[in-house]
Amino acid sequence: MFFSKPIAFLLSALLSFILSNTNKLDAATLPQDEVNVLNQIAKTMGGNDWNFDAGSCVSEKVNTDTGAEKNITCTCQNDTCHVTHIIFKLQSLPGVLPSELVNLPYLKEIDFAYNYLNGTIPPEWASMQLEFISVFGNRLSGNIPTYLGNITSLTYLDLEANQFSGQVPPEIGKLVNLRTLRLSSNGLTGNLPVQLEALKNLTDFRINDNNFNGSIPAFIWNWKKLERLEMQASGLEGPIPSSISALENLVTLIISDINGATQSFPYLWNMTAINRIILKKCNIVGQIPQEIWQMSKLRVLDLSFNLLSGQLVKVTLPKDLKFLYLTGNNLSGNIPASILSTGLPVDLSYNNFTWPGPDQPACLRKLDNINLFRSSSTEYIGILCISIVVELMM
Ligand SMILES: *[C@@H]1O[C@H](CO)[C@@H](O)[C@H](O)[C@H]1NC(C)=O
Ligand SMILES: *[C@@H]1O[C@H](CO)[C@@H](O)[C@H](O)[C@H]1NC(C)=O
Ligand SMILES: *[C@@H]1O[C@H](CO)[C@@H](O)[C@H](O)[C@H]1NC(C)=O
Ligand SMILES: *[C@@H]1O[C@H](CO)[C@@H](O)[C@H](O)[C@H]1NC(C)=O
Ligand SMILES: *[C@@H]1O[C@H](CO)[C@@H](O)[C@H](O)[C@H]1NC(C)=O
Ligand SMILES: *[C@@H]1O[C@H](CO)[C@@H](O)[C@H](O)[C@H]1NC(C)=O
Ligand SMILES: *[C@@H]1O[C@H](CO)[C@@H](O)[C@H](O)[C@H]1NC(C)=O
Ligand SMILES: *[C@@H]1O[C@H](CO)[C@@H](O)[C@H](O)[C@H]1NC(C)=O
Ligand SMILES: *[C@@H]1O[C@H](CO)[C@@H](O)[C@H](O)[C@H]1NC(C)=O
Repeated sequence: MFFSKPIAFLLSALLSFILSNTNKLDAATLPQDEVNVLNQIAKTMGGNDWNFDAGSCVSEKVNTDTGAEKNITCTCQNDTCHVTHIIFKLQSLPGVLPSELVNLPYLKEIDFAYNYLNGTIPPEWASMQLEFISVFGNRLSGNIPTYLGNITSLTYLDLEANQFSGQVPPEIGKLVNLRTLRLSSNGLTGNLPVQLEALKNLTDFRINDNNFNGSIPAFIWNWKKLERLEMQASGLEGPIPSSISALENLVTLIISDINGATQSFPYLWNMTAINRIILKKCNIVGQIPQEIWQMSKLRVLDLSFNLLSGQLVKVTLPKDLKFLYLTGNNLSGNIPASILSTGLPVDLSYNNFTWPGPDQPACLRKLDNINLFRSSSTEYIGILCISIVVELMM
């Protein structure tokens, strides 16, 4: 092959660039024992055609469209590297969780989300200094192992969307450095053990979609740093303990489908950062407190399917509000002009409002954004509005 001089020069420059970079990467390598461990791990997890080598620290494969990720991160010193993070996410792995992790002494974080891994968490992990475990969206089953409580270095534990059953072991209360604990979408039963009150560093706690029973424990007031609390259809019963008022850092509060005694609206007014309040089907009686409209950061308010009654007066919607759901209550009186004139999605269906009179702006514009189906005991709201609009047009 012949190339003109400038092109040949460019090619050789490119070649030497590639070579020198490869050499640079090769310079810092994984020791063979860690390479071997990686290959054992791949085999245990069912990544059969996977083959790691000394350069595996730089073999990141990330698909930003799907979220699929195969990423091994190392820390390197003096040309020697050690595996610190393993992410095998959305890789359709059909095997089990690898006990061999224990042979990677520098490992801190593992994320094996969205695979088909079954079985349970290996006891070998109990002696590791892991800080982050996510096994979200797999097929793990059986009880949550008590020895998870030995990994006191954990700050993040996500067992969400698996088939764990039985009670949450009291030993989880030993994980005092936990900031995130996600147990949603499993088959967990019983109540939350009182030992969990020790988890004072929690900022994110989620137990949606489980079969817990008993009432929501009052000890949650201990979790003073909590920013996100999710208990949708957890199985736990009401009432929401009044101690919830102590969670002044909450940003997201989601509780739904709690049976048990009726209760009045919980005291949420010290939660100045809150932007999502979803208290759906919580057996809340009485009026919607005026304070709710003063929650200045509020973006989502969903109080559907409670027993709220009384009139909405002097409603000024918070300026960042995006959704307002009040369906399935017993609210009465006029629908405030501030709600009727908002362009936001609003659901007022299944209530007991008075239909809007001609003095209200309701009928002056198209209300595509507001669901008024059966919002009043009088059903002619639509017809009434049309007649007013026709009148206005003439
Ligand atoms: C690989 O994982 C590390 C540690 O979590 C992360 O910092 C890095 O951004 C990831 N690489 C890619 C390409 O996403
Ligand atoms: C790395 O190399 C430096 C200088 O060669 C040495 O002082 C240091 O102890 C080495 N560190 C390790 C962890 O081997
Ligand atoms: C895990 O899956 C394998 C293969 O499908 C199956 O043989 C095994 O019984 C499963 N183990 C558990 C604990 O479900
Ligand atoms: C967990 O720690 C306890 C107490 O230190 C110890 O007896 C037990 O063997 C440990 N469990 C595992 C699986 O390492
Ligand atoms: C919270 O975490 C910090 C830093 O990890 C730790 O020092 C502290 O002991 C933890 N809090 C509790 C109540 O254990
Ligand atoms: C939880 O459910 C079990 C089985 O249905 C029942 O025996 C137990 O009394 C319940 N516990 C509480 C606290 O409601
Ligand atoms: C709310 O905050 C005020 C002022 O900090 C305090 O006096 C009050 O006790 C708090 N209320 C509750 C229920 O936590
Ligand atoms: C609905 O609220 C009205 C007061 O506005 C009250 O008289 C009535 O009993 C409530 N109905 C139900 C079913 O709670
Ligand atoms: C609707 O409100 C009226 C009074 O405005 C009240 O008489 C009636 O009982 C309420 N309907 C229901 C189903 O509570």
